[in-house]
Amino acid sequence: MGKKNKFKLEEEIALRFLYRSNADLDLTNCKFLGEGHNGKVYLRPDGKVYKICKTDVSCKEEYYILERVQGSKYFPKVYSCMGIYMIRDYVAGENMKNYIRRKGMSEELALKILELLDEFKKLGFTKIDIRCKDIFVQKDGSLLVIDPKGCYSRNKPYPTHLMKGLSKLKVLKKFLKIVKYKRPDLYQEWFLEAKSLGYI
Ligand SMILES: Nc1ncnc2c1ncn2[C@@H]1O[C@H](COP(=O)(O)OP(=O)(O)O)[C@@H](O)[C@H]1O
Ligand SMILES: [Mg+2]
Repeated sequence: MGKKNKFKLEEEIALRFLYRSNADLDLTNCKFLGEGHNGKVYLRPDGKVYKICKTDVSCKEEYYILERVQGSKYFPKVYSCMGIYMIRDYVAGENMKNYIRRKGMSEELALKILELLDEFKKLGFTKIDIRCKDIFVQKDGSLLVIDPKGCYSRNKPYPTHLMKGLSKLKVLKKFLKIVKYKRPDLYQEWFLEAKSLGYI
């Protein structure tokens, strides 16, 4: 094994240890909220959360996005980023996947999703897409994004992940019907995309 590879491997092992030991944070009074592909999230007694990431690179990338969108009402406030973890605001509510399972799609919700995607454009995102589980619906019905990824690096002009999720929840047709008469400018391409991917 070359020196470079050996170094890489050692670094990877060290990162895994650090992740498993929760970045040496004291989580005694924290509540575990969930774990995804890139990390895990703990609620602190002060109402903020720790997101501990598997790598410092993914942590930095996510923090960078959150920092760039600060001021937008759709994203939690971030406070700091240290190595493999960051501190940010807790997001209350229910993820949109479960919310739709319970309540289905409504015109009100569809319009909120469209507003959110418009905001992505305003923020200069190159990825105009998001997964249902990364949108949280608040008690007052407003939407918040919990887990932004690749917003400024991936090139995704149409919300294919979103439409795939809505299709699985059996509400895509209804959603697109609302898009058709509220936002005809978007409808054609989204419809064709959904059709060609077999979502409808
Ligand atoms: N700010 C938050 N407020 C409430 N729950 C959260 C928050 N951030 C994450 N979670 C929970 O933790 C899980 C993992 O967090 P997430 O940021 O999606 O990690 P990953 O980047 O690994 O996908 C989420 O699916 C969600 O259940
Ligand atoms: Mg996630």
